[in-house]
Formats: sequence, structure tokens, C-alpha cells
Amino acid sequence: MNKPILVVSTGAGISAESGIKTFRDADGLWENYPVMQVASADGFRRDPELVHHFYNERRKALIHALPNDAHRALVDLEKDYDVYVITQNVDDLHERAGQKNVLHLHGELMKIRSVYDPDYIEDLDIDHLETTPATRGRNGDPMRPHIVFFQEPVPNIEKAVELVQRADIFVVIGTSLVVYPAAGLLHYVRPGVPVYYIDPNPADIPSSAGVHIIRATATEGMKILQRELA
Ligand code: APR
Repeated sequence: MNKPILVVSTGAGISAESGIKTFRDADGLWENYPVMQVASADGFRRDPELVHHFYNERRKALIHALPNDAHRALVDLEKDYDVYVITQNVDDLHERAGQKNVLHLHGELMKIRSVYDPDYIEDLDIDHLETTPATRGRNGDPMRPHIVFFQEPVPNIEKAVELVQRADIFVVIGTSLVVYPAAGLLHYVRPGVPVYYIDPNPADIPSSAGVHIIRATATEGMKILQRELA
């Protein structure tokens, strides 16, 4: 008997309770760093040293962070559903919580890739977190953060759309829904499929979209969702 398919789209908000800064909340990352200098293709061309430094800083924060109860609640749902997590986050907290199916739309902080060949990717480990423009892969190529910068295409978006189109339930957690194409996934849900949006300060969604808004943090919101799904 196949389990119902539950697709979840997560943003920075699900990692907030793990102590990782979001981007657009007060004192968020984009308040302290000029986004187009540290997270865009032009910025990387202009000052690769600064961009490597920005991601080094985020990796050093990440290794002290742990998955929280919201990440774990999504893993628990695998008992009753085929769960697919589509995340805008570049942290590895879903994986460290034990989530089976995680699709990263914006890349992964703990990976680097060849500047020349986007398919040549290496894992970083806790003892080798910091990279510079001089960092070379084992294949000799200069390496860059395995991050989708602004101004770059989102390679996994087609896979994400296919997942949302198969969803029997769609859940959005902790995203301001301002960055596309991720924010547009909501519109690929089949008619009649229930949609839940968990966020303490949810973005405006036209009520016609029939979205169940759970105005709460990710950890509290997941408890409410688990009760609603029971
Ligand atoms: N629980 C749930 N949601 C939370 C919590 C929490 N404890 N704290 C904050 N939030 C919500 C905020 O209300 C907001 O809606 O998380 C969202 C964070 O929004 P952003 O900071 O814009 O993060 P996100 O939507 O993931 O950004 C999307 O923008 O800069 C790019 O690539 C970057 O992937 C990122 C993308």
C-alpha cells in the first residue's frame, strides 16, 4: 500500500530555532551583509575572497547548530507519508535530523564545486571548512561554494515542481515567499490538495489560495500540523 505523498517546502525559518540566522528578519544576514556582494554571480566575479569568507563564516556557525524539533517532526512524518523536503536552505539540518528525501534548491553549504564543471562537487568536512580563491579540488580545478548565487539558474527547480505536482499534501514552513522560483512552487499544487503554511509572520497569500495558515514557529506549528493530520 503506497503512502500518501507529503511535500514540504522549507526556508530559513525552520532553522531559526537551531540558532541559524534567517535572511530578512531583524538582524538577519542581509542586514549585515550586502547580498549582491556576497551571494551573487557578479559579486563572486568581483571579489571571490569576500564571497569565500562569507560562506566560511556561515559554515563555522552551522557546525555549532543542531536540528530542532521541527526538523525531527518532519522525519517522524515518514512513518505515515512518503515525505519529500524541498529546501531553500543550504544548511544540512534536514539531513542530520535523518530526513530521507531532501532536495536543495539553493545549494549546500558543506559542499564546494569546480568553477569550471558544476558536476564536480566535493564534500567539506568539519576540519576543512574554510575555502579561498586558491582552494583546489582533487582534480586540480579552482573551487567555489556549491551555492546557487543570485543571477544564476536553479538547476533543481524542475524536479521540485514535479514533486509538488505529485503531492497529496503540501506544507510550507518558514519562508517569506519573496524569492522565485522557490516561492512559486505553491502554484503547482493540484486542485483540492490541502496546503499548510507554518510561519510566525506569514507572507500575504491570497485567501483564495485555500491555504491553511498556522501562525506559529516551526516547532510549535509542526505540533499543530501533526494534530491536524492525525
Ligand atoms: N519558525 C518558523 N518560521 C520562522 C521562524 C521560526 N522560528 N522565525 C522566522 N521565521 C520566518 C519569517 O517569518 C520569514 O517568513 O522565516 C522566514 C524567513 O524568511 P527569509 O529570511 O526571507 O528566508 P527565506 O524565505 O528562506 O529566503 C529565501 O532568499 O536570500 C535568499 O537564498 C536565500 O534561500 C534564501 C531565500
